[in-house]
Amino acid sequence: MGQRIHVWLLVGLFQITSIAAGTNSVDVSALYSLKLVWQNTPTNWVGSDPCVDGWDGIRCSDSRVISITLSSIGLKGQLSGDIQSFSELQTLDLSYNKDLTGPIPPSIGNLKKLAYLILIGCSFSGQIPDAIGSLQELTFLALNSNSFSGKIPSSIGKLSKLYWLDLADNKLTGPIPVSNGSTPGLDMLVNTLHFHFGKNQLSGTIPPQLFSSNMVLIHVLFDSNQLTGSIPSTLGLVKTLEVIRLDRNLLSGEVSSNLNNLTSVVELHLSNNYLTGPMPNLIGMNFLSYVDLSNNSFDTTDVPSWFSTLTTLVMDNTQLQGAIPVALFGNPQLQTVSLRNNRLNGTLDIGTDFSDQLQLIDLQNNSIQGFVDRGVYHNEIILMGNPVCEGTGAISHYCMQSNQSISSYSTASMNCVPVLCPSDQSASPNCKCSYPYKGTLVFRAPSFSELGNSSYYMALERSLMLTFQTYQLPVDSVSLSNPRRDSYNYLEVSLEVFRSGDDHFSWSEITEIGLLLSNQTFKPPQYFGTYYFLGSNYGSFLESSATSKKFVSLGTIIGAAIGGFLVVVMLIYAGFYARRQKRRADRVIKQNNPFASWDLSNSSGSIPQLKGARWFSFEELKKCTSDFSEASEIGTGGYGKVYRGILTSGQLVAIKRAQEGSMQGGLEFKTEIEMLSRVHHKNLVSLVGFCFEQGEQILVYEYIPNGTIRESLAGKSGIRLDWMRRLQVAVGSARGLTYLHELADPPVIHRDIKSNNILLDERLNAKVSDFGISKLMNDNEMGYVTTQIKGTMGYLDPEYYMTLQLTEKSDVYSFGVVMLELITARKPIERGTYIVGEVRVAMNKTRDLYGLHELIDPTIGLGSTIKGFEKFVDLAMKCVEESAANRPTMSEVVKEIESIMQLAGLNPNAESTSISVIYEGPNSRTTQHPYSNKFFHYVGI
Ligand SMILES: *[C@@H]1O[C@H](CO)[C@@H](O)[C@H](O)[C@H]1NC(C)=O
Ligand SMILES: *[C@@H]1O[C@H](CO)[C@@H](O)[C@H](O)[C@H]1NC(C)=O
Ligand SMILES: *[C@@H]1O[C@H](CO)[C@@H](O)[C@H](O)[C@H]1NC(C)=O
Ligand SMILES: *[C@@H]1O[C@H](CO)[C@@H](O)[C@H](O)[C@H]1NC(C)=O
Ligand SMILES: *[C@@H]1O[C@H](CO)[C@@H](O)[C@H](O)[C@H]1NC(C)=O
Repeated sequence: MGQRIHVWLLVGLFQITSIAAGTNSVDVSALYSLKLVWQNTPTNWVGSDPCVDGWDGIRCSDSRVISITLSSIGLKGQLSGDIQSFSELQTLDLSYNKDLTGPIPPSIGNLKKLAYLILIGCSFSGQIPDAIGSLQELTFLALNSNSFSGKIPSSIGKLSKLYWLDLADNKLTGPIPVSNGSTPGLDMLVNTLHFHFGKNQLSGTIPPQLFSSNMVLIHVLFDSNQLTGSIPSTLGLVKTLEVIRLDRNLLSGEVSSNLNNLTSVVELHLSNNYLTGPMPNLIGMNFLSYVDLSNNSFDTTDVPSWFSTLTTLVMDNTQLQGAIPVALFGNPQLQTVSLRNNRLNGTLDIGTDFSDQLQLIDLQNNSIQGFVDRGVYHNEIILMGNPVCEGTGAISHYCMQSNQSISSYSTASMNCVPVLCPSDQSASPNCKCSYPYKGTLVFRAPSFSELGNSSYYMALERSLMLTFQTYQLPVDSVSLSNPRRDSYNYLEVSLEVFRSGDDHFSWSEITEIGLLLSNQTFKPPQYFGTYYFLGSNYGSFLESSATSKKFVSLGTIIGAAIGGFLVVVMLIYAGFYARRQKRRADRVIKQNNPFASWDLSNSSGSIPQLKGARWFSFEELKKCTSDFSEASEIGTGGYGKVYRGILTSGQLVAIKRAQEGSMQGGLEFKTEIEMLSRVHHKNLVSLVGFCFEQGEQILVYEYIPNGTIRESLAGKSGIRLDWMRRLQVAVGSARGLTYLHELADPPVIHRDIKSNNILLDERLNAKVSDFGISKLMNDNEMGYVTTQIKGTMGYLDPEYYMTLQLTEKSDVYSFGVVMLELITARKPIERGTYIVGEVRVAMNKTRDLYGLHELIDPTIGLGSTIKGFEKFVDLAMKCVEESAANRPTMSEVVKEIESIMQLAGLNPNAESTSISVIYEGPNSRTTQHPYSNKFFHYVGI
């Protein structure tokens, strides 16, 4: 009662104060009531304006709270009925907070806009409220790994937009509800792709009515329940199915013969039931990869022959008889064969043509009388419990308890000096100590069984890093370890995520990473199949560090007052001390500062390594940006901010100032500016100078006024790019790149070519920017295997992504994507489609303009005015060839564009001035500066 009154007092207070502020007052008071009932809410939850003040985990739109995402931060308490107040809420993610308990309040049904309800890995209990069926906008419902009990509410059947339904790993009981005349049921979910109900205590039969040909399910995971009766033949109607797990139930009866109508099934688990009748015939399943039919009571049968695409065949205790055909082992993908406890006989021969991926043949407890050991198969084979192992055979290696060590995977460190970390920290693969975000990835149906093959995990690491990079999270590296199968036949892999630039993540970063993994934004490589993540609590560590940093208690205020006096005394003393120390310090600085020996007073280029770039004092740059004022800011990124400044000479410049945490070592900085200063070409943005002083690392570039070609293509810059101008842009940027690849010394790979990195100057010359992260191509670095993928989604060379081999052909690929952008004005990835694939599919060389009319940007001009269009498309498609070897070099690209220009009646060597700049609309100046694009954070300053 006392608490209730408190809440209302607070609510009243904030309703008054928040009228003046931005955030809707109902939302503010509801957030304050959450703060009251939960422990460990983020420390920046103070003040009256959560939207404007940027409370961690809260996102707003039009002053309304639209998303609350607070995963893994150690929240403790219950979900109170106040949650219903957020009437605009679309996303609620409270996953991985083990101390969140109690039921979901029925009032949750009032969240009419809620699309994502994600409560994975908490300790919620009680019945799932019927009111959940009122969430008409719900598309994603994940309540897995809690302690929910009672029945699955039939009202879930009313969620017609639902595509993800995960209720697994709870204590749910009762039947799977289906509709009748008066109540809804799960059979109505005709837009749902995922039924994940495993690890519960569901009982009753699987209702035949549950499945129909209207459904689009791809995953039916009902494993580890107490379902009885037979597998309904209607399952065979859901043609879209890819993964079926009905294992570990009490299912009986015959398996319907129409199961093999499900031609897309990749994984099929029917093990540990009481199935009878003929062994299911899976001959039509052409993608079948993993089959486990163990521990059933099928009729006695020979080893089946429908296994041509399998990686894994597990049929322990399934009444198999006869000899094992040698052809079984020749299936090229095969990794594991386990046929224990059957009546297999004859002489085993695996031939010489067996799959080179084969890791394990387990035939324990059969009637095999002999083994043709050709000595060519060196992986595990187990024949214990067969006649062949009786008598003298008993000493053969295949008859003994295996002592082959189980190979396990753990991410290796990347060519760095190993470090010892404090006990509460861990070393990242890049050998830095920090507090990683930890958790477990659980794969419910991987299509492989060879857990020792590191290439699977390395691909998983790369896909994780790529996701974090795409969402601009400051992740240095990820570490995977200890892959293992649990008793439910799930694959578990431990994950650690390390921050870059700091030794710990902030709360908001943790909640973002948590969301990427809880809302399935992260997609692992296909062979890992469906997954869920269980994050551990990052809150306790953060809480203590945040408290010490941010929270000001009364005690500290008093302490500060006393301390203030002491500080004055100490300062006086320090003044004396400092003078004595300064001379010593100067000596030390000289050693640590590679620039220290430069004659900074002579900035006219007396330093031989720097061609054309000059040194700036921090004071000078401060002055020309009016003290780095907000008004002169033109962009920000992970590395820091970009300002516009005017030098005393009147020259406009763009000034990139690295912030703390994104600085590099002095020597690397020096190497970088030496490289940048040597690069001079009219199609490259050039370095004017730099500042390395007072702990600052600043690069000064020429200012390019007309923005990026992305902005022009999007119609944001007021510059209309017709076909002729697009050809000029293409040839200009191609020449800039050619210079980097073929003329710069040493050659430079750009690594991040994209329409956001090609700027237009006042004459609409294209200028390539942002080669700060470029990799020098020294001889010893050619084909260098990099440890982290740099670049931007949509422009990434797939071969580089797969092999990590970086060559200049990766830039050619990205450039091809830019060429396609020039034609279509589309972003490379838009609404889930990829421009390269789309053009490839739509292209029809027999038709006018290759039949691409629908894709062509209308601004380009039409018909006869786009001469050379087909050749341009041909060239772009050559640049985006899958195999780098088939792509042209940049100088070949330049030549080809030049010939297209001649075809179009342009002189490829004329300056673009011949085309006067036309601004459209009233805004004759662009307000957005190129450097303001948010992908800019890859720059290496
Ligand atoms: C439909 O099912 C509900 C609950 O299972 C039951 O109470 C109701 O009587 C059924 N209605 C009809 C028409 O069968
Ligand atoms: C599905 O399988 C059944 C039984 O094997 C067969 O009669 C039927 O024609 C199949 N249906 C389709 C659409 O393939
Ligand atoms: C078959 O059943 C036995 C005994 O319950 C169990 O130990 C074994 O793991 C099961 N096999 C498979 C492949 O599930
Ligand atoms: C293997 O078992 C089958 C079926 O029980 C039988 O017909 C056959 O003769 C056996 N073969 C050998 C070599 O014992
Ligand atoms: C899932 O999370 C990511 C990362 O925060 C976000 O970009 C995406 O929009 C989320 N999906 C939805 C539909 O909330």
